[in-house]
Amino acid sequence: MDPITNPYVPGAGTQPPELAGREDILERTRITLARVKLGRAAKSFMLVGLRGVGKTVLLNRIEQMAKEDGYEAVLIEAHESKSLPALLVPPLRKLLLALDRGKRVDVAVKRGLGVLRAFAGSVKLTIGDVDIGLDIEPMVGSADSGDLEADLPELFVAVAQAAKSRGTAAAIIIDELQYLNEAEMSALIMAVHKVSQQNLPLVLVGAGLPQLVGLAGKSKSYAERLFDYPPVGALKVSDAKTAIAAPAEREGVTYTAEALNEIVNVTQGYPYFLQQWGYHSWLHAQGSPIDEDAVRKAGGEAVESLDESFFRVRFDRLTPREKDYLFAMAKLGAGPHRSGDIAAELGVAVESVAPVRSSLIKKGMVYSPAHGDTAFTVPLFDEYLRRVRGKSNS
Ligand SMILES: Nc1ncnc2c1ncn2[C@@H]1O[C@H](COP(=O)(O)OP(=O)(O)OP(=O)(O)O)[C@@H](O)[C@H]1O
Ligand SMILES: [Mg+2]
Repeated sequence: MDPITNPYVPGAGTQPPELAGREDILERTRITLARVKLGRAAKSFMLVGLRGVGKTVLLNRIEQMAKEDGYEAVLIEAHESKSLPALLVPPLRKLLLALDRGKRVDVAVKRGLGVLRAFAGSVKLTIGDVDIGLDIEPMVGSADSGDLEADLPELFVAVAQAAKSRGTAAAIIIDELQYLNEAEMSALIMAVHKVSQQNLPLVLVGAGLPQLVGLAGKSKSYAERLFDYPPVGALKVSDAKTAIAAPAEREGVTYTAEALNEIVNVTQGYPYFLQQWGYHSWLHAQGSPIDEDAVRKAGGEAVESLDESFFRVRFDRLTPREKDYLFAMAKLGAGPHRSGDIAAELGVAVESVAPVRSSLIKKGMVYSPAHGDTAFTVPLFDEYLRRVRGKSNS
């Protein structure tokens, strides 16, 4: 069928034509935003889920909801090779400048900018990099001790007070939180703690892979009480069907029941895979209704596209030893697997591959669902690895 009207959008962070099955998270967001704005207690939260389940898409939606609610909102993506302060300063500067836009000079907003400048100075972000605004003097002695656990709370409080004095609220939204190191996570948790103790209107919404929960707990034991960790996972059958059927319907196209079942089966309801199968089934179908035959014929290309994009970008970042570790896991099946079994498959002692396992966790490839267990963070990655192995052996 016509590629021009193809509604499906496989891709990292691309807004789906139908955001299926996330009503609970959106409702929680609505309530949290409203409560924080009123200065009422509300838990910040971090969305936790595997690759390709729709975390980024949700954060984008949450940013939009916050803005519609009158919030000043910033969305940041944490990165393996960039420090949290370096990530935070430019968007927080933008946020404070947006608050500064009114006619009336606001003491709290000016103070916020001064604190940010002091903070940026102490973490040695060059002013050129950050361009904090020349007419702002650093607020010497505020958020500039060089100890992130002390400084970040002061900075968040200053930002929150600035928002409050403007009669609004601030939302700090951070994706890929598993890439923070322990000290950064700890500082972030303390910062949110400080803000919520004072009932200031600032909310943190995060997202990341499952290792994020362990990281937060390790950094600060009270993180558990401070945050909720709503899981974002595969869609349940009815939602997965909606994700496929609703966008087509808007183009006047339907699916047979068998075709829908087939898509849900092969994708296991994972959002990225749903988009990919929807996309190729559409291209293969001769017309409406899209039938099982079209879906089956589309399968090969859907898998190929996934291998070339979704799976390969992750695989290509690995060292040979890391790849071997994952191949051993894949040989054992979908997982999770005991560390001992993986080592045995590799024919080595558990301790000797412990560093490889740790670096795979840091890179976000695997996580530990329970002590001594290892699982893929990428759904169906074991099947991909077996395909790759099969190709390289043939
Ligand atoms: N609720 C949903 N219904 C249908 N499709 C969805 C839904 N959520 C996300 N998608 C689609 O799934 C794909 C992946 O979404 P997204 O990039 O947000 O996932 P992610 O969890 O951030 O993945 P990663 O961990 O790799 O960053 C996109 O193509 C998006 O359009
Ligand atoms: Mg993402």
